[in-house]
Amino acid sequence: MSQTKITVLCENTAGGPMGLMGEHGFSALIEKDGQKTLFDTGQGMTLANNAQVLRINLAEIKMVILSHGHYDHTGGLPAVLHPSRGMEVIAHPDIFAKKYAELDTPGGKRSIFIGIKYSQDYLEGTLQARFKLIRKFAEIAPGIFFSGEVPRETDFEHPDTRLKVEHDGKITDDPLLDDISLLIETDQGPVILLGCAHAGVVNVMNHFSAKTGHKKFHALIGGTHLGFMTGPGQQLERSMDAFDDYKVDLIAVSHCTGQEAASVCYNRFKDRFAFASAGWSKTF
Ligand SMILES: [Fe+2]
Ligand SMILES: [Fe+2]
Repeated sequence: MSQTKITVLCENTAGGPMGLMGEHGFSALIEKDGQKTLFDTGQGMTLANNAQVLRINLAEIKMVILSHGHYDHTGGLPAVLHPSRGMEVIAHPDIFAKKYAELDTPGGKRSIFIGIKYSQDYLEGTLQARFKLIRKFAEIAPGIFFSGEVPRETDFEHPDTRLKVEHDGKITDDPLLDDISLLIETDQGPVILLGCAHAGVVNVMNHFSAKTGHKKFHALIGGTHLGFMTGPGQQLERSMDAFDDYKVDLIAVSHCTGQEAASVCYNRFKDRFAFASAGWSKTF
């Protein structure tokens, strides 16, 4: 096998070098077997800037994978789609659903649109994206596995009930079946890359374990959604127990993990913990 490098390009916070910017969102570059694959694109305000600061040429990216259809993971698509090359974009078919967040504001509850801000026609027509929309677990490149829909099986991971979806004018809780993650085989063991883990980070680990037979994961990188826990149960504690059960050597959290949950993880895992902000990278 050859080395695999993962670099966080967009994140809520910016690390070094100088000139990186933060935005609420997530994007990571996977360099494997000489091929560059982009996982998520952030909100759209920092991808091009941060790539330039990190000397990453977005024109060299061969494939884009979207973790789900929220604006903070898909807003940077135009920065990476090259009409002349017809970029392959892999995601779950539900990414184009009309997604909303119901937020408490001083004036009462308000729904704001948080889906993809570009139409499918614009992305496929003007920007020549070639969408490959798949629902099931699949190896999408040598050693890179797409989770497909993740079964919700744990009793302590609860959906974020503020997240909604509209079908035929009716707004309901968004099951977020489009929430997918990646498993990347590396020289140091399997690495899981998460966008928001709306499916529940432990459900994601259990699903990859069932599909690949792995009982240990070397690293967990990305958004864990532990900062938006809702409902009963000790989701954070039990998720951290699962990180130990799967003997995760590196817990590199980002984005919707939230600062409070990240601090709790740091206090428990110490040397095994990293905060993966924009600019963070690791070679496996
Ligand atoms: Fe999300
Ligand atoms: Fe997110």
